[in-house]
Amino acid sequence: MAKPSVYVTREINKEALAVLADTCEVTFWPGPDPVPRSELLKNIAHKDALLCMLTDKIDAEVLQCAKQLKVIATMSVGYDHLDLKEIKKHEIKVGYTPGILTHATAELTVALLLATSRRLFEANAAARNGGWQAWSPFWMTGPGLEGATVGIAGFGRIGQEVAKRLIPFQIKKLIYFNRSQKPEAESTMGAVRVTFDELLQQSDFLVVCCALTSDTVGMFDKAAFHKMKKTAIFVNTSRGGLVDQDELVKALQEERIAGAGLDVMTPEPLPLDHPLFKLKNCVIMPHIASAAVQTRAGMAMLSVENIVAGLKGEKMPSELTL
Ligand code: DGY
Repeated sequence: MAKPSVYVTREINKEALAVLADTCEVTFWPGPDPVPRSELLKNIAHKDALLCMLTDKIDAEVLQCAKQLKVIATMSVGYDHLDLKEIKKHEIKVGYTPGILTHATAELTVALLLATSRRLFEANAAARNGGWQAWSPFWMTGPGLEGATVGIAGFGRIGQEVAKRLIPFQIKKLIYFNRSQKPEAESTMGAVRVTFDELLQQSDFLVVCCALTSDTVGMFDKAAFHKMKKTAIFVNTSRGGLVDQDELVKALQEERIAGAGLDVMTPEPLPLDHPLFKLKNCVIMPHIASAAVQTRAGMAMLSVENIVAGLKGEKMPSELTL
């Protein structure tokens, strides 16, 4: 019997490809960049499964070409690049990779927060370019975490792991904004659930960990930045679409907030002439929160396992409920 066919939109690690090739006929896009749209549309025809990345928009046009597609596995926890309504119409199963990247993402979020608040890149640049003249009492100072109120928007797996890593810095208060209450985190971490306005008004450090959905898109808008403390540090490792980026630029330019650390933005990659790159009080990372070696290998393997199980008609290890 012929093996089912799978299209993989990027070259993944050998171990994961080998497991996939055991039971499937595999074709993949070999380039280091995302697969061009035309290639995706051409290659998806006559494939039973698709292993894609968050850079691939899977919408009605793709599904139109994918007449025999039964399974999609995205190598990401986020799935805002998938048109779930359309996918459901076509009765296609979807797998994703939650859980496995939680720790790596939390780790990077803390690194980004500290790099932003303690001005690590600015200080490093000054040390290298002659800006460091003598030790100076108030030069390169930034807000410390000790005694601070940390606010987390989106208190799921990643938000809670970020909180766990920040508590040992002797913060004063941990507050969160989330659709549902998290009683266990409240009792183990002393986290306090607040309204969105309270989160904005009280946070010294505001960390965004929520998923991008039609409810959360643009939630950090002009009004939100106006409610934040002038001394606040804003950190986003979730999705750029949660933020009205023009308003963030204005808030940083006018120093209505103290700084921003961003691992995600709109668009990605951010154009080199974008105003965010001109701001000293903004630290920009190229969407690397989950980029720990073992994490990315695990994400690829979980995606493969999702495909294999889905094609067998079994429940995927990480299946999205549509
Ligand atoms: C995801 O998986 O959605 C992250 O943004 C990248 O790992």
